[in-house]
Amino acid sequence: MAPLPKTTKSRFVDLEVNSVLVEHIPVLAETLAELISLPRDGVMVDATIGHGGHSLLFGRTLGPEGVLIGFDVDKNTIQRAHSRLSELACKIILIHANFSQISEQVHDNNIKKVDFILADLGLCSAHLENVDMGLSFQTDMPLDMRFDKRLNTTAADIVNESDEKSLADLIYNFGQDRASRRIARFIVQYRQKLPILTTGQLAAIICRALARPGRKGKYRIHPATRTFQALRIAVNDELANLEKLLASAPQLLNKNGRLAVISFHSLEDRLVKNDFKLNQKKGIYKIITKKPITSSRQEITDNPRARSAKLRIAQKAAE
Ligand SMILES: C[S@@+](CC[C@H](N)C(=O)[O-])C[C@H]1O[C@@H](n2cnc3c(N)ncnc32)[C@H](O)[C@@H]1O
Repeated sequence: MAPLPKTTKSRFVDLEVNSVLVEHIPVLAETLAELISLPRDGVMVDATIGHGGHSLLFGRTLGPEGVLIGFDVDKNTIQRAHSRLSELACKIILIHANFSQISEQVHDNNIKKVDFILADLGLCSAHLENVDMGLSFQTDMPLDMRFDKRLNTTAADIVNESDEKSLADLIYNFGQDRASRRIARFIVQYRQKLPILTTGQLAAIICRALARPGRKGKYRIHPATRTFQALRIAVNDELANLEKLLASAPQLLNKNGRLAVISFHSLEDRLVKNDFKLNQKKGIYKIITKKPITSSRQEITDNPRARSAKLRIAQKAAE
């Protein structure tokens, strides 16, 4: 087993988005390095390749006989990962597809089983700065939120077209915001006068609904955080896709192969926790992380995105 290079200084300047340099630092990389070791001829699937941060670290442990398969729904990140990973010795297959199609896509590439699947869910830091993504409430940009531009429905479509009850349910179910009904009412009132087309408009409506200025103040998070999370989950069908990935993993993993999932909110983490538990009960998995692993204080200081990260790992049983 080749040890993974130590990653203490794994941060790197990432890429330019809208003329701003944005770093994406792979989350919990050192912990993963301690818990996952791949043979030189191993096969790894990075289900969310992003800018290739995690893949670069693991890919360096693979030899020319090893294979790294990367998925991403965002075409631009695939291009970025492609140039970043060009230094690797292993075979690299990058696929612009949703990880919900992991089995079909991997089989289409004549690979039956894999040793490691990693899913680092959500978005890359650069996505927040990218005006084409339309995800940020800190900067005014067109309200879009589709990671995959092949999808038809944007966040603007949802806020302008959904009825008030559906909007409130969406904000409650996916954003866990107790003020969901009030926020939905303010959205509907506003759009009777003007369509809601930008993230700035939506953030301002939410701030008014909650009678809070657009700052955290004494609160832990910005008033728009939960509604934006809810819309992003809905636009990208994030929970259903994660369920499909979890359902595909047991068939795809080799004996003793490992699945690692890094999630960033409790809805995702609950799905992962329950799936691992159920599969352990059935004798399919052994859970490696009894409790989810979170980032150290130092990592959170270095990379605030790591604040809410939770890592769970399961291993496919040998029998
Ligand atoms: C947190 S980033 C991954 C960062 C990566 N681990 C790195 O170190 O650079 C998550 C990536 O997953 C992608 N993504 C989100 N949902 C996806 C899905 N269902 N299928 C494939 N990719 C997805 C996003 O476009 C984003 O690029």
